[in-house]
Amino acid sequence: MNRTHHCAQLTPAELGATVSLLGWVDSVRDHGGILFVDLRDRQGITQVKFDPQVNAGLGQQAAHLKPESVIGVTGKVAARPAGTVNPSLPTGGIEIEATELTIHNVSETPPFPLDDAGGDKVNEDLRLTYRYLDLRRPKMRRNLQVRHRATKAIRDYFDSREFIEVETPALFKSTPEGAREYLVPSRIHPGQFYALSQSPQQFKQILMVAGVERYFQIARCFRDEDLRADRQMEFTQVDVEASFITREDVYSLFEGMLQRVWKEVLGVDLPAPFPRMAFVDAMNRYGVDKPDVRFAMELVDFTDLFRNSAFKVFQATAAGGGVIKALNAKGLSDLTQGELKSLEEVAKSLGAKGLAFIKVEQGEWKSPIVKFFSDAEKQALTEQLGVAEGDMIFFAAAPWEKACAILGRIRLEAAALLQKRGKLTIRHDDWKFLWVVDFPLMSYDEAENRYAATHHPFTAPVPEDASLLDSDPKAVRGQHYDVVLNGMELGGGSIRIHQPALQKKVFEDVLKIPADVVESRFGYMLKAFTYGAPPHGGIAFGLDRMVALLCGTTSIRDVIAFPKTQKGQDLMAQSPTPVTPKQLKELHIQTVMPE
Ligand code: AMO
Ligand code: AMP
Repeated sequence: MNRTHHCAQLTPAELGATVSLLGWVDSVRDHGGILFVDLRDRQGITQVKFDPQVNAGLGQQAAHLKPESVIGVTGKVAARPAGTVNPSLPTGGIEIEATELTIHNVSETPPFPLDDAGGDKVNEDLRLTYRYLDLRRPKMRRNLQVRHRATKAIRDYFDSREFIEVETPALFKSTPEGAREYLVPSRIHPGQFYALSQSPQQFKQILMVAGVERYFQIARCFRDEDLRADRQMEFTQVDVEASFITREDVYSLFEGMLQRVWKEVLGVDLPAPFPRMAFVDAMNRYGVDKPDVRFAMELVDFTDLFRNSAFKVFQATAAGGGVIKALNAKGLSDLTQGELKSLEEVAKSLGAKGLAFIKVEQGEWKSPIVKFFSDAEKQALTEQLGVAEGDMIFFAAAPWEKACAILGRIRLEAAALLQKRGKLTIRHDDWKFLWVVDFPLMSYDEAENRYAATHHPFTAPVPEDASLLDSDPKAVRGQHYDVVLNGMELGGGSIRIHQPALQKKVFEDVLKIPADVVESRFGYMLKAFTYGAPPHGGIAFGLDRMVALLCGTTSIRDVIAFPKTQKGQDLMAQSPTPVTPKQLKELHIQTVMPE
């Protein structure tokens, strides 16, 4: 249509020019008959003046304008009178003296304010119900643009490295080894189902057998998981696989990708190579396999110190093979009763029996358990935790994994409390990337009473450890790696098994999947591998998570145009919904409602 400029473009350089703009009415102000309309398009805002002295008819028309109406304006670029210049806008020095107005559509009054501050205050459900309005907010528009820029930088990067993008099916087969799947009934094959692809994992490996050598895909993945701020049921991966590649190649390839994205989107130079941390060290020091290393507050192990402690809980935990770990939340002794209670609740939700603590106030250790501690124990704590006035020490006594998980979480909660008090600064743009490596290939699933793959069953063991697969699967390290940024797992991958015999052994002997089940689920893959499978490996990145971090938000819903709520609903289009009996019949499906 008739548009000469966009709304962030005009400056005093264009004074006197006749221009045409299109957009939405951001606001209308009436100054004694003269109307000032802030006109907004996806680039920015320009002020338009309707003066009845100049054009009475036009002024009357403009008086009916309501915010969010869509209009076209033609007029002359004029300087704003002294004192009315808005230095915070690029277009703040000029205004358009309107000579023509076209009203394309009049808007209802929006249910919430569409500026960043106003929109941030309203309930997210309301924003999601009116997502088309929410996306008009500058912040959300910027998020969409960042996502586009990042995706484009990624495509350009892989293209320049001779990777080709190959699409793989969303309708796949059910292989219930990983996350829970979405099933799709087949109309043509009664009683049979597809599963929506959780990731292109098997296809990308088959593409290596097919000789593609370098594959990538911006791929949609589907997982029926409990949703959180960093999890959606459908999300997007930057999925990559390459042949004849080692772990070191993967690290440098992806450091290069992240450097390119950060440079192109934010103008930031990321230093590489990224630090690496063994899984065991990450757990011991930070209590998680995705450590936020922007602040210290590390966990310290005191199992040996308390082996003969007079505090029975610690002594018994150590005797039973568990560990005693502690951390010092420096400066948090002013914790309120309520805050302490909720930290205890957090610990208990992770299976803690309690959350022993020491509060250091007026030179005194205030704690229900300190009466049990010997002088030597107190001295060791003081030295190793650097205990000083105003500190708050927390303990976890439990089996290793549980103790790590409990204190890992308490560490994050304590950091948030310290931040709230202004005693700790954690910046979202303090980009602390790291590779977490040397994961165990297998972990023991107590509930299922068998081993499960830590990453997935296609991950290759570290060659030196492969001989332990029969005798001690727990001790085998996998060739698996994760990229972590500021406490978020951004991506994960591995070098794969490419020998059919070893893959079969992992399925049948280690994971104890019956041979006939292996055949029906993975037989095609094992067969493909007998026809010359090259050594290969790869990784997948959570694009939503990466963009969220780039945008400085912790919720991936803020960087997905149409996300689902925590309850898995689309509040705008209203899904899921019941379907008609006729539809179900065609699909040979009957529903059984829960009691
Ligand atoms: P993985 O399961 O670790 O690996 O997934 C890779 C990355 O995808 C992101 N991610 C998610 N993002 C949003 N919502 C979710 N529900 C969700 N689940 C995962 C995370 C994660 O790091 N095929 C393997 C990769 C490989 O081995 O190459 C895979 O899918 O950022
Ligand atoms: P109790 O001896 O049960 O009264 O516990 C004394 C203190 O130790 C309380 O503050 C409990 O919360 C804490 N506590 C009990 N069990 C554990 C545990 N396994 N790890 C850490 N703290 C604990």
